[in-house]
Amino acid sequence: MDRWRTIIEPFRIKSVEPFRMTSADERQGRLEDAGYNLFNLHSDDVLIDLLTDSGTGAMSSEQWAGIQRGDESYAGSPSWYRFLEAVLELFPFRHVIPTHQGRAAERILFAVAGGPGKVVPSNTLFDTTRANVEFTGAEGVDVVIPEGRRPSALHPFKGNVDLEALERLIAEVGAERIPLVMVTVTNNSGGGQPVSMENLRAIRAICDRYGLPLFLDACRFAENAWFIKQREDGYADRAIPDIVREMASLADGMTMSAKKDALVNIGGWLALNDDRWAEQARNLLILTEGFPTYGGLAGRDLEAIAQGLREVVQEDYLRYRIRSTAYLGDALAAAGVPVVQPIGGHAVYVDAAALLPHIPPLEYPGQSLAVTLYREGGIRGCEIGSVMFGRHPDGSESPAAMELVRLAIPRRVYTQSHIDYVIEVVRSVAEGAAELRGMRIVAQPPTLRHFTARFEPLST
Ligand code: F0G
Repeated sequence: MDRWRTIIEPFRIKSVEPFRMTSADERQGRLEDAGYNLFNLHSDDVLIDLLTDSGTGAMSSEQWAGIQRGDESYAGSPSWYRFLEAVLELFPFRHVIPTHQGRAAERILFAVAGGPGKVVPSNTLFDTTRANVEFTGAEGVDVVIPEGRRPSALHPFKGNVDLEALERLIAEVGAERIPLVMVTVTNNSGGGQPVSMENLRAIRAICDRYGLPLFLDACRFAENAWFIKQREDGYADRAIPDIVREMASLADGMTMSAKKDALVNIGGWLALNDDRWAEQARNLLILTEGFPTYGGLAGRDLEAIAQGLREVVQEDYLRYRIRSTAYLGDALAAAGVPVVQPIGGHAVYVDAAALLPHIPPLEYPGQSLAVTLYREGGIRGCEIGSVMFGRHPDGSESPAAMELVRLAIPRRVYTQSHIDYVIEVVRSVAEGAAELRGMRIVAQPPTLRHFTARFEPLST
């Protein structure tokens, strides 16, 4: 490896998807039509779509070949067995239950394990995971290390669980009320930050002491393994699949959204060791997802996942993937744009509260920044701040802990020149930050308002 050379995209492009150039004036019109909510845009009107890295990746020619090979037999298809083999290669749990995406696996897991009075500790539960925990009447409690809540705090494994806080929580609520501990790798809501093997081992030891199962929300497992290889003592010479298997060996089960680190557009699974839970989960699966050898998926989807799992653990891919996220983050930081540090695996999070200190949290600095990035450059990011988290069930409002705009990077989709363009747009918007104004909400639903609320820019 020639260390001084540019880390290039480790692929050539065989099929392209043209997008239409738009002008700032045209985009202003689209914003007005959309009520300044970027979820309401037609994606045809977006140039660089960084709304999510979920299901937005490009598949390889081998994955498309798998799509052709897909066998659509209702039960026991060879595609199912190829999927199963690829999952077990990395995650050798006793039971693997395919689902149409991650939240379906969460829904089934917590239907079995959750319920009123139960408490689910986690570094940080992702929104859908928390919603599925709460839907059963259980409560989710985040116990990430304090650095994980501070955008500028440097820590190599900012997704780690605060072990003392976890023990305190178990002592407080009682182990019998805790059906499982869930660790999100990487920690999406905390900035795509990894969890160390040492931390996973220590969580395992705590779980063993209290007889608790440990589950991974493993959406970005390969990116997490790459960070372990780079940053944790003793892992530099270990192969990525080995590191993944070690992560899995510390857990009793996992939920997975294949839309992330299985490099596909749809899919997921639940895997676990417990026979009784697995039986209940399969019965629920049949009720809403499908027969246990396809879940909510077509045979062709299972083939694409099997191949994606082989590609995602390749070091050339991961080196490029993590480097290209850092390339965007480092360039923004060098230009003085405040971003969550260190740069995470799948996204760069701009700290809108630090960039726009003149906009109060309840005038939504993150929304203002996200809207301006779209108007000025056709870039669609996602506000993660007081629009998303500021409203409470009783209708009251208070500022979220952070005001961030997430620029999530789809896998194998954009080239370095696309990212250079993003850097130029963010820099020029940041230079004019003092001109940006807040926003107000003119219409909103009672829950999950960020998807459908309508906004108006404030003039002063
Ligand atoms: N867990 C994590 C950590 C996630 O990031 C997601 C999805 C899910 C579970 C749910 O998976 O979408 O397949 O049902 N995250 C996407 C995002 C939506 O944009 O971060 P799903």
